[in-house]
Amino acid sequence: MDAGKRLRIKVRNARIGDYAALVKLWKANGIMIRLGDDRDGIRTMLSHNPKLSFVAVRNGDVIGAVLGSWDGRRGWLHHLAVEKGYRKAGIATMLVTRAAKEMKSRGISMVKVEIYSRNTASKALFSKMGFKHYEKLLTYGKEI
Ligand SMILES: CC(C)(COP(=O)(O)OP(=O)(O)OC[C@H]1O[C@@H](n2cnc3c(N)ncnc32)[C@H](O)[C@@H]1OP(=O)(O)O)[C@@H](O)C(=O)NCCC(=O)NCCS
Repeated sequence: MDAGKRLRIKVRNARIGDYAALVKLWKANGIMIRLGDDRDGIRTMLSHNPKLSFVAVRNGDVIGAVLGSWDGRRGWLHHLAVEKGYRKAGIATMLVTRAAKEMKSRGISMVKVEIYSRNTASKALFSKMGFKHYEKLLTYGKEI
């Protein structure tokens, strides 16, 4: 039996009504709230990228989530998090799989994610899921 059925977890699309629960999840699980993560920013992201973001819900509580986006070339995953009490049960794998499947169904053929180098759990997860690590690639950013 898969983790979703065993733990009675439902994975569904994220909606703006989940915003408070998402912030609570991110804050409790080490996701930094950054530029663009205010309610308006997330509303914009969800409406620009319909049905690419998912939440895992148990007994009405959001216990995991991933945001998905498409920049016109690649799909991207952001702010993946699972509540501490539910980790190592395959929930992140379910969320990433759903987002990637939805992307693929729209013809998106590459999905990427940025991970802090210290994040051993996330690195192990994405490696196990077949994501390639581009060792020579660095991320640059600038507030504009
Ligand atoms: C990273 C995170 C999302 C993983 O969620 P999860 O639901 O526990 O992941 P899964 O159960 O789907 O794990 C799948 C595989 O990933 C790897 N993995 C997950 N957590 C791991 C850990 N703490 N240490 C080592 N490997 C780990 C394992 O290979 C695991 O397979 P296994 O259980 O058969 O060993 C979760 O630890 C988390 O929310 N961390 C805090 C927020 C964060 O760092 N988010 C990532 C941002 S990129």
